[in-house]
Amino acid sequence: MSLQTQMHCGVLVHFVICVCLAGVASAAKCVPEKCGSVNVSYPFWIKNSHCGYPGFQVICKENSTGMLTRYLSAYVANNTHRTLTKSYYKIREINYTGQMVISSRPLKAASCLGRQEGDGFVLFHLPSDGPFTISMTNRFVVVGCNTSGSYAYDNLGGEARCVAGCIFQNDPPYCSYGCCEITLQDNYKWLNFTGGGLVHLKDEKKCGFSTILDPSTFTIGDDREDLYWGHVKKAYYGLRLNWGIGLENCSMAKTTVNYSCSSNAECIDSPSRKGYVCKCLPGYEGNGYTNGTDCTDIDECSNKSLNECMEPSKGGVCHNLAGSYNCSCAKGYSGDGFKNGSTCDAESSKKTAMFAAIGSVSAFVGVSLGACGIVWLLRMRYQKQARDEYFRRNGGVLLERILAERGKQMEGKIFRIFSEDELKSAFRDYSDDMKLGTGGSSTVYKGILSNGTPVAIKKFKDFPIGVESEEAMKQFINEIVILSGLNHKNVVSLVGCCLQTQSPLLVYEFVDGRTISHQLRSNHLSWQSRLQIATGSTDALAYLHSELDRPIIHRDVKSTNILLANIFVDNTLAPKIADFGISRLLCGNDTHLTTNIMGTCGYMDPEYYDTGTLSEKSDVYSFGVFLAELLTGREPLSPGKPAQEIVLSKFFLSKCKENCLTEIFDPKVRNEEILDQMIDVASLAKECLCVEGKGRPSMREVKIKLEEIGGSTTLTTSTSCSDVLSYQISS
Ligand SMILES: *[C@@H]1O[C@H](CO)[C@@H](O)[C@H](O)[C@H]1NC(C)=O
Ligand SMILES: *[C@@H]1O[C@H](CO)[C@@H](O)[C@H](O)[C@H]1NC(C)=O
Ligand SMILES: *[C@@H]1O[C@H](CO)[C@@H](O)[C@H](O)[C@H]1NC(C)=O
Ligand SMILES: *[C@@H]1O[C@H](CO)[C@@H](O)[C@H](O)[C@H]1NC(C)=O
Ligand SMILES: *[C@@H]1O[C@H](CO)[C@@H](O)[C@H](O)[C@H]1NC(C)=O
Repeated sequence: MSLQTQMHCGVLVHFVICVCLAGVASAAKCVPEKCGSVNVSYPFWIKNSHCGYPGFQVICKENSTGMLTRYLSAYVANNTHRTLTKSYYKIREINYTGQMVISSRPLKAASCLGRQEGDGFVLFHLPSDGPFTISMTNRFVVVGCNTSGSYAYDNLGGEARCVAGCIFQNDPPYCSYGCCEITLQDNYKWLNFTGGGLVHLKDEKKCGFSTILDPSTFTIGDDREDLYWGHVKKAYYGLRLNWGIGLENCSMAKTTVNYSCSSNAECIDSPSRKGYVCKCLPGYEGNGYTNGTDCTDIDECSNKSLNECMEPSKGGVCHNLAGSYNCSCAKGYSGDGFKNGSTCDAESSKKTAMFAAIGSVSAFVGVSLGACGIVWLLRMRYQKQARDEYFRRNGGVLLERILAERGKQMEGKIFRIFSEDELKSAFRDYSDDMKLGTGGSSTVYKGILSNGTPVAIKKFKDFPIGVESEEAMKQFINEIVILSGLNHKNVVSLVGCCLQTQSPLLVYEFVDGRTISHQLRSNHLSWQSRLQIATGSTDALAYLHSELDRPIIHRDVKSTNILLANIFVDNTLAPKIADFGISRLLCGNDTHLTTNIMGTCGYMDPEYYDTGTLSEKSDVYSFGVFLAELLTGREPLSPGKPAQEIVLSKFFLSKCKENCLTEIFDPKVRNEEILDQMIDVASLAKECLCVEGKGRPSMREVKIKLEEIGGSTTLTTSTSCSDVLSYQISS
């Protein structure tokens, strides 16, 4: 850009600014006009028509008592003035977002004793080119014993009518003897109504009548007066009018030069039939029109009820901002300053000051009491410090960061970091009756979160990972992050954790049910159920092994780690795999991982045991033991039995070799019809129990095969480990 054009632009900008300032200056001249003590603001005006909107003139007149009062003019005809004459209606209230209330006392159509209904009528007519309409919130009301009335809303015959009886009633409040009312069907500009009929109960010389009023404006004196002629002066009621400026709705008005809403106001289509109104944005109040007094910022800090900041006495500081406010804490306090947020906590030096203060007070109250207070405060402080320290050491800060980064990717799965207090109230004590189970390194308790959700909370006896090194901590957090992302119907999901305790607490989805081990020993599980359990479990393990970015090896697959929920999912039993306590993640392409050998006797993969090399196939082996359990109903280890029967996997394989497997099938389920299926599953179990890992099928293959068996297809079964290598997956 050349220097010349730059200068040119500079001049242009300058010019535009000047024009704008001039515009602002002239608009600023529109100060509200006064009528007595009340302001009249844009679009209403009294004398300065250039500062108001056409049709919104308010007449400021001195009334009989010498007070200046605002009036609105409209046209009315009644049985004394049969032609339309201009009349003035006292304005009760103007709200600048499209409504106003005028007194409707003069609008009374009456006919008296002996005369025909219709003798008295009122034709109320708002200027047809003006901005006002009669709001639909008004009611047409007929008052008097055995009185009737009707209204016409156009001169084409549109009409509505109601008849009042003569019984005592309290509802609606306008009249106690004889009353009926009907709602309006539209925002009319024109109403011709009649009313009257028989004798008025309280005064025989008076007649029934009809009028129109908005129920929300009706108020009566303490001595419960109503609309009856003799008492009507004590009741106040009004007619609500709608208004709007212009002829267009918001979307059209916004495109015109005359658009009148100021920058801190929003445009709302008028409740009237035409036009729009301007309403100050939240956090602002006043008159939202460019030519009006504009919206002013609400100072939320000046009124306690308008803000959520901590009281100044508790360290809170409130900052008023344009359209809102912000809270913070005074120096020496920490927190966000919001009552509903992290409030304000006195930092340690302040607290020491507080102890001192409490100490001196306690001199009067009693030393012991003060000492208790100090001990309590110190305990609270140490507790908080300890929590913060544990949280940091256990990797809370890292976890928070990772979760924030992961944010929305979690697809509806919610994972939370709980505070210790939240979990404390979730389960009152780590008491025995809330105990769900005890494992080697941990105990699981049932708890109820404050929103009523039951959860299982796992408490480690000794934190297995340890906090001795930063590396271990990172590994632990990483594991939590990955487990928290698991989302499978047959996997017990990790819903949160608490890192404010010495050893972290893990919060799992609560599964209402028992372990398969328990179900197998104490209940009758049909063969179909066992097959569904096996299929569901392989589904979960196949998910862990092959559907994640990084495979997860469970490392402790066994019948006590598979829960059977008391519910059905898609009409099948829903087994859920739990306890990834010692699961480790495989990294990248590393299919083998050497770790400290962990697992459960009876389920342990011999290859892993011998070489320390762990792979997904170790889970397959354990699953093979589980299948043998389902088939035989026996425990993986039965110490009381003859030597060759103690270890189920060995016993199972030896029977397999002898071709006598059917002998050890669980007599509770064994029958001819399902024998083929049982044999198929047995041969699958045998493949899984292959001593060499690479001879075992993958979980995906097991899953497919089980599904086929479940579908009752008889399979040609392989009989040795080497056959398994030629296992073909058809898909
Ligand atoms: C606002 O007031 C100015 C005069 O001060 C007038 O020229 C202009 O038409 C008014 N705008 C509207 C929308 O009433
Ligand atoms: C009327 O407007 C003036 C400013 O023009 C303002 O000071 C005063 O408070 C307003 N009165 C009412 C009752 O709103
Ligand atoms: C209003 O109603 C009264 C009574 O029904 C009738 O006499 C009068 O002509 C009506 N006026 C108009 C303008 O329709
Ligand atoms: C309130 O204050 C905090 C801390 O200074 C700041 O991060 C935040 O953006 C502020 N909020 C608003 C609405 O200004
Ligand atoms: C606290 O309340 C304020 C006002 O209602 C709200 O804006 C804010 O988001 C709330 N903060 C929290 C942490 O809930």
